[in-house]
Amino acid sequence: MSKQCDYLIYNVQIATMLDGPGPYGAIENGCVAIDNGKIQYVGAMENVEASALNTFDGGGKWLLPGFVDCHTHLVYGGDRANEFDMRLNGLSYQQIAEQGGGIKSTVAATRSATAETLLASAKDRATALINEGVTTLEVKSGYGLDINTEIKMLQVAKTLSVVLPVNVLTTYLGAHAIPDEYTDDPDGYIDFVCGQVIPEISALNLADSVDIFCENIGFTPAQCKRVFETAKRFGLNIKAHVEQLSDLKGAKLACDYHALSVDHIEYLAPTDVSYLKQSNTVAVLLPGAFYFLKEKQKPPVETLRRLQVPMAVATDLNPGSSPIASILTCANMACVLFELTPEEALRAITINAAKALGLNDRGQISPGCRADLCLWDISHPAQLVYTINQYKPLMRWFGGQLV
Ligand code: NIG
Ligand code: FE
Repeated sequence: MSKQCDYLIYNVQIATMLDGPGPYGAIENGCVAIDNGKIQYVGAMENVEASALNTFDGGGKWLLPGFVDCHTHLVYGGDRANEFDMRLNGLSYQQIAEQGGGIKSTVAATRSATAETLLASAKDRATALINEGVTTLEVKSGYGLDINTEIKMLQVAKTLSVVLPVNVLTTYLGAHAIPDEYTDDPDGYIDFVCGQVIPEISALNLADSVDIFCENIGFTPAQCKRVFETAKRFGLNIKAHVEQLSDLKGAKLACDYHALSVDHIEYLAPTDVSYLKQSNTVAVLLPGAFYFLKEKQKPPVETLRRLQVPMAVATDLNPGSSPIASILTCANMACVLFELTPEEALRAITINAAKALGLNDRGQISPGCRADLCLWDISHPAQLVYTINQYKPLMRWFGGQLV
């Protein structure tokens, strides 16, 4: 490379997260040239005669792509500490939901909160993620269920990317729970989701994707199918909470509609993993929810690995099943609880997490990608997932700007 660029980071070890030749796609003694917020060149120092407006000596430390948290519910009102107490006194997550608590209690708190209040708490949670190296995150609605609150949540989520150095992708999760107004008419609620909310949200350009909760305490496959049909019609991507607590064959259904990802999947039958492979769907593992709900059934990681289905890991940050604002803790849990290797776990929060959002311009350090980068004072990338709460990035670049 011998061209003029805006910015040159040199004297760094680079975990590109690309395939091979070595682990983490690592480049020793490398440099990254940035121009116009994008990576222009990445490679060994010796090939470079760049003239850059600004240069930065990385002091031999490790440069990684910014992390991508591809599944969160971080905009919500109230909290559910009381339900944590109830669970420790013997009630299950399902029992609490059946008694009108669970998602529904957060719906009540979110409906009554102002946009300002929602933004303030969401900002704190997003900041915790950003301080750990997250540069792109996804936020789902689904705690409003009525049209105004769903719109309010999605607008708050979008505002996060205006007030914080982070890119936000938004997902409409109307089919999260049946609101009280439709207790006796779940199909009527799906009529409302498909006939009114999706068209409105699409017209306002408020969501990139549509998500569902296919579960005995959520929606049936037939109801989810209707949501997928409508999402497709409006050109929205599909994501799906499936096989978290039971096997309703939601993953196969989502794959029939070419879902970007199927998420949770503890109860996914190993024989159904081939559907993900065929439809190029990412398996999103959410070990925080598995841990917090003290689940026993583990996702079919061995089969996912064998069939080379990309695995992502996300926080699922939400008040009920995963109140965990740390992507690296979730990566560690993916190793300890689901037996991912440290390299798989780091791919799961970078390149594969980007893929779960339909993005191929981040989560890796390669030419043409966004210059979302973090510098870490570590001797090896595995240290980031082997430890809990030990490291924060030394420096962060967001779209090529130091933040
Ligand atoms: O991803 N599974 C459904 N939704 C969330 C939990 C939401 C809640 O309990 O508030 C999840 O685990
Ligand atoms: Fe979730």
